[in-house]
Amino acid sequence: MSFQPPKGTADLMPPRSHAWRRALKLWDDWTERFGYPLVATPIFEATELFERGVGGTTEVVTKQMYTFTDKGGRSLTLRPEGTAGVVRAYLDSGATGAWKGAYSGPFFRYERPQKGRYRQFWQLGVEYLGVESAVADAEVIELGYRFLESAGAREMALHINSIGDAACRPAYVEQLRQYLEGHRDELSEDGRRLIETNPLRVLDSKVDRPKLADPPLVTDHLCEACREHYEQVKVLLDAVGIPYTEDPYLVRGLDYYTRTAFEFLGIGLDAAQNALGGGGRYDVLAETIGGPHTPAVGFALGLDRVVIAAGGEEAVGLDAYLVSERGPGEALAAASQLRQAGLRIDFDAEGRSVKAQFRTARRLEVPVILVLKEDGSVDAQTEGERQTLQVDEVPAWMEGRR
Ligand code: HAM
Repeated sequence: MSFQPPKGTADLMPPRSHAWRRALKLWDDWTERFGYPLVATPIFEATELFERGVGGTTEVVTKQMYTFTDKGGRSLTLRPEGTAGVVRAYLDSGATGAWKGAYSGPFFRYERPQKGRYRQFWQLGVEYLGVESAVADAEVIELGYRFLESAGAREMALHINSIGDAACRPAYVEQLRQYLEGHRDELSEDGRRLIETNPLRVLDSKVDRPKLADPPLVTDHLCEACREHYEQVKVLLDAVGIPYTEDPYLVRGLDYYTRTAFEFLGIGLDAAQNALGGGGRYDVLAETIGGPHTPAVGFALGLDRVVIAAGGEEAVGLDAYLVSERGPGEALAAASQLRQAGLRIDFDAEGRSVKAQFRTARRLEVPVILVLKEDGSVDAQTEGERQTLQVDEVPAWMEGRR
């Protein structure tokens, strides 16, 4: 008998995992630079948290959740997204006021698997709670942009929009609903269903949106406070040099958003899976799940897609491969010294021939090969350079090459 990973899941193995590890390190680095400490919430939560938090009419909740009853009779759901869980944790902890958190881990949605769309996928996300100001929106967006840029996803576009709030959106949605009713016959079956349940989503539909010539736009119907907030977000993004495109058709797939909505789009990816990430402001989510009014903004990126956009595979993360002419025991001692000095070193533990060790080093495409000689010295070899050193001189020499 043989087993495979369940449909829509995959094993993360080298060499693909090299690019992941690099991206995860960059994520830790950027979130620390922006002052977002790590938070980790359970991978499963009460089903009702997502039904109430994410929205009972969203596709994520109605079609895509992995829900099960545990042995104690509780209805639990594998988290399809991170925001509801983080807000629950914030409320549970008794925290008040401004609060930041960054997370990274697996999420689950029952979707039709294809490149960039999986049933188990990995999100990197941040949430900034307790701050009403557009400064929080701009900071969060900048963080996502800087991370994606440094991760190598340069071919990307940031789309932003404001989708209003409880003061202005209901009247707009009603107007949109009436407009869509007038075009009912042109819409797909899904589109017609959305007229009743979530008319905004029709604007986001790749099938139906092109059929609509001049739908009313939310940005023409914002109340004064929402318009002002949106203007400030744009001014602040300009100030920190983040390029963006205003997209009045941008709406998000989860119900909790108010005001700012944004997406990072990967230019080289298929249209259906081109969102490297998305987020926005969600000022009412905390109340929806039983907490006090808590303005908030955040985003999540799909790491699977970020790695694809960044070009996929990376060379193995080693500074050097140690080839030993003295056997593996001596290599272990030399590697130990170098590793304690901060270098990333690997070597052969099986006592294979020097020729075989060189073959491994070349396959790994390491920038430096260190040959441990019979007399205990090290022959450091790079393309076009050769240097004889003592083991304890190697770290400084490697540093000098950077
Ligand atoms: P989302 O747009 O549903 O937002 O997901 C964010 C990102 O996760 C997507 O842009 C995509 O890159 C990735 N993603 C989603 N589903 C899949 C899938 N099936 N396979 C691969 N990647 C996927 C949220 O989840 C919100 N919680 C974001 C947020 C945080 N908003 C405020 N704070």
